[in-house]
Amino acid sequence: MATPVMDKAEQISAAFPYITVTFRIRRFNPEVSAEATWQDFLVEIDPKERVLDGLHKIKWEQDGSLTFRRSCAHGICGSDAMRINGRNRLACKTLIKDINPGKPITVEPIKGLTVLKDLIVDMEPFFQGYRDVMPFLITTGNEPTRERIQSAKDRERFDDTTKCILCAACTSSCPIFWTDGQYLGPAAIVNAHRFIFDSRDDGGEQRLEILNGNDGVWRCRTIFNCTDVCPRGIAVTKAIQEVKRALITRRI
Ligand code: SF4
Ligand code: FES
Repeated sequence: MATPVMDKAEQISAAFPYITVTFRIRRFNPEVSAEATWQDFLVEIDPKERVLDGLHKIKWEQDGSLTFRRSCAHGICGSDAMRINGRNRLACKTLIKDINPGKPITVEPIKGLTVLKDLIVDMEPFFQGYRDVMPFLITTGNEPTRERIQSAKDRERFDDTTKCILCAACTSSCPIFWTDGQYLGPAAIVNAHRFIFDSRDDGGEQRLEILNGNDGVWRCRTIFNCTDVCPRGIAVTKAIQEVKRALITRRI
């Protein structure tokens, strides 16, 4: 009697360790062509491995010219945000089994930033927006002689926005950022929020003025893409709303 043929989903559920997955990757090399193209790679991979593992296999075993950023490989450094199956994710936190490996897995650079090569974009405009909101503690008055005390309740106020790893998944998923290169973007606002609502900081008014400008929070149309894609689970839209409210009431 013939042995029944298992499809990929059955292979996974039977814990068959390796499956063959098609990685469909957006390639771009300005030294070769001005046009980006799609290239398919077949990869033998354990479905419990991550997209980053698949990219490593391609780079190390098939095509050393494939170019992408990564560092920690554990969701901390924020360097490997990319569009995977049309959605911004960290390649190191995305398991193959969770993204329908029976079909080609598409991998593209994040949107709204100039592609330099393959999956690498120019992050400078993103980091300029971050620098613009002064993401550091600003204090006035005399140098204290002891540490600045903060209650647990006051610390809680900006706890969520301390978790940002500057991966740009939020900003590069925002249609306003795509169409309008001037918008500071969700990540910059999240990092402004982190200091605006810090009871030890005295620079809140300055930051609010920056965010009240043409490139600031009022460009946000509350689309929620940013919140949906944040790999740290930060309530990005809520943080933006809190900054808007602070601007209206001028109460921090
Ligand atoms: S808010 Fe989330 S998605 Fe945006 S840069 Fe920070 S960690 Fe990444
Ligand atoms: S490689 Fe550091 S967050 Fe993915």
